[in-house]
Amino acid sequence: MPLDIETRFLCLADFEPAARELLPHAVYEFIAAGAGEEITKRDNEAAFDRIRLRPRVLRDVTRLDTGITLFRQSLQHPLILAPIAYQRLVHPEGEVAAARGAGAAEAVFTLGTTATAAIEDCVAVSQSPVWFLLYWQSDRGFNGELVSRMAALGAKAISVTVDMPTPGDRRRQFRAGFKIPDSLATPYFKDRNTGVLKVGTAQRRAMPTWADIAWLRSLTTLPLILKGILDPDDASWRSEPVPMPSSSRTTVRVTSTPCRRPSTPCPPSRSGWPDGFPSSSTAG
Ligand SMILES: Cc1cc2nc3c(=O)[nH]c(=O)nc-3n(C[C@H](O)[C@H](O)[C@H](O)COP(=O)(O)O)c2cc1C
Repeated sequence: MPLDIETRFLCLADFEPAARELLPHAVYEFIAAGAGEEITKRDNEAAFDRIRLRPRVLRDVTRLDTGITLFRQSLQHPLILAPIAYQRLVHPEGEVAAARGAGAAEAVFTLGTTATAAIEDCVAVSQSPVWFLLYWQSDRGFNGELVSRMAALGAKAISVTVDMPTPGDRRRQFRAGFKIPDSLATPYFKDRNTGVLKVGTAQRRAMPTWADIAWLRSLTTLPLILKGILDPDDASWRSEPVPMPSSSRTTVRVTSTPCRRPSTPCPPSRSGWPDGFPSSSTAG
């Protein structure tokens, strides 16, 4: 079937069958599958399906404004592309093409540590802000250098994944024999070949603590975003014996598996969370 964007891609759900048709099966499984029995994935989809909008009428809608200010940045709307690893698996230009698309849609693009493209190239093609997502790696100094480098190269915020102590039990991709090709370069991912992130093993990854976050905070004035805090009790550094510089008010929580825990409904509610935290959900 021809990939005619006008007739074939009318909504987000139209992309999945096209991806299934075009991508190698193992790559499709890497992207489409959830972990374990996929309970969280199903829960999240169901939670989003339950959302109902209440239309309001008889208002003057000649001027509409979806703009927000987030982390001192003026955005046209609150849509931010979540970091997705190894994008050259699916497109020759990888993250650069995604950043260009995000720019055209005036959305923020987040480049991951597992990126297969350079941040300069993403910044060059996007008029919208580009953020960098740090996967904390075993060499602490390298993490610090990476953050400073990304700030110098144009990243407008630093996000840190805090919820991945071990790779997910992604059975569908294991069954499909998914492997990241050696030929795919990942310039920012020093731990890639150490075996630490090998899929299918129970090895633990290096993970940051509040002390590491405070250290990162001292290295950059950019907004620092914590990706993957699921419980209000984990969201307050005030309960930790770690002094945090005052600019840490820009820290945000972002949930990614909200439905698994009864204390964290999906989409996330504000109750129970510390004041002053902007929050967002990474979709389902
Ligand atoms: C193929 C794939 C690759 C991902 N790579 C990363 C990554 O490198 N870093 C990260 O923090 N999250 C990564 N994620 C998680 C997403 O950023 C996001 O938090 C998660 O997919 C939940 O959002 P969704 O329901 O819209 O998929 C990845 C997710 C997928 C499906």
